[in-house]
Amino acid sequence: MKHISKQRVYSSLAKIAFWSFMFLGLIFIFFFRSPSSSSSATSDPSRRSLRTLAGPAWEKRVRASARIRSRNGISVLVTGAAGFVGTHVSAALKRRGDGVLGLDNFNHYYDPSLKLARQALLERSGVYIVEGDINDEKLLRKLFDIVAFTHVMHLAAQAGVRYAMENPSSYVHSNIAGLVSLLEVCKSANPQPAIVWASSSSVYGLNTKVPFSEKDRSDQPASLYAATKKAGEEIAHTYNHIYGLSLTGLRFFTVYGPWGRPDMAYFFFTKDILKGKSIPIFEASDHGTVARDFTYIDDIVKGCLAALDTAEKSTGSGGKKRGAAQLRVFNLGNTSPVPVSDLVSILEKLLKVKAKRSIMKMPRNGDVQFTHANISYAQRELGYKPTTDLQTGLKKFVRWYLSYYGGGKKSDQ
Ligand SMILES: *[C@@H]1O[C@H](CO)[C@@H](O)[C@H](O)[C@H]1NC(C)=O
Repeated sequence: MKHISKQRVYSSLAKIAFWSFMFLGLIFIFFFRSPSSSSSATSDPSRRSLRTLAGPAWEKRVRASARIRSRNGISVLVTGAAGFVGTHVSAALKRRGDGVLGLDNFNHYYDPSLKLARQALLERSGVYIVEGDINDEKLLRKLFDIVAFTHVMHLAAQAGVRYAMENPSSYVHSNIAGLVSLLEVCKSANPQPAIVWASSSSVYGLNTKVPFSEKDRSDQPASLYAATKKAGEEIAHTYNHIYGLSLTGLRFFTVYGPWGRPDMAYFFFTKDILKGKSIPIFEASDHGTVARDFTYIDDIVKGCLAALDTAEKSTGSGGKKRGAAQLRVFNLGNTSPVPVSDLVSILEKLLKVKAKRSIMKMPRNGDVQFTHANISYAQRELGYKPTTDLQTGLKKFVRWYLSYYGGGKKSDQ
């Protein structure tokens, strides 16, 4: 008797297990087939946004994240919030009591797990990142319906100079079409927000007069990336002129630091030095050194916040201009170019590993030989004054890198 009942229990347990499996399997299949699980930059953004996102709980989350908690605080929509600069700017705004809502499409240009880790970091400080694309005007309009953003910090972009030869359309999609989509929504928002956005030092292109000043030529880009950023500056001019949008472009100079972008030299040099892999160090065709005006992330964040704080209100309403509005472009650099070989020497000391250097001619695929920012305009208007030298900044980067990757485990992926 006892034996039989035991068998029965077993068989019913097996049945339960079987049906649970089937049920979980169905849920699994449903989620993998549903468009909401796709986070690719190229997937049609309008397909998923509102249907899967909208809802009272979601709106509550959006509102809570964008709520201003300090007197004279601002409410900022930060695009590219899971990116390197976006994460740091969002955290800094939140710390001082501003309302911050993030937006990011979590594309796979580089390891998305780093973006997810940054998202988790922001989540803990109360910043919610909506997963969506700046090309999704419906989603953007919905966000502006829920929150009357006073400012937009537009940092979403397709970055990288060399990748432009592999995937040119992603630059047009994010840096041109995406920018226009965002500005279209901003110009018809009531009230219109003031917009601060990331341009790039690469717009100086083949300009050889140093240090680069905002008034210098920027009509000879050396890469498609640079060309789309320059196009962005011209598009900004148009929206300022026609619709009275307040627009400030920031030309960033080689930003580096903790939580940085893995496609940048200081980042993959660190990874490859630790692995004992040789690293390519470019020299110019005349054996001249290649140097960069490396700018530490905390200095860039201060510049971004100062740009937001000094931005005047947009003047338009109902999609119409009511008066002249502010239009600015600033260099945000460090005014201290460092040869890339010196960068490697600093990394060797910090990592206590000798680098295998292989000197190569710089290929003509978009990189320029030298960047050096004249920051006197940003100094005057924004009180911008970088304080971190490359040695100090890299020390902080390396400390973060080793704690995040544990000396090279995660970076092996
Ligand atoms: C930097 O730019 C300012 C204009 O903003 C100019 O007056 C100054 O001469 C420039 N400095 C150098 C060293 O070129």
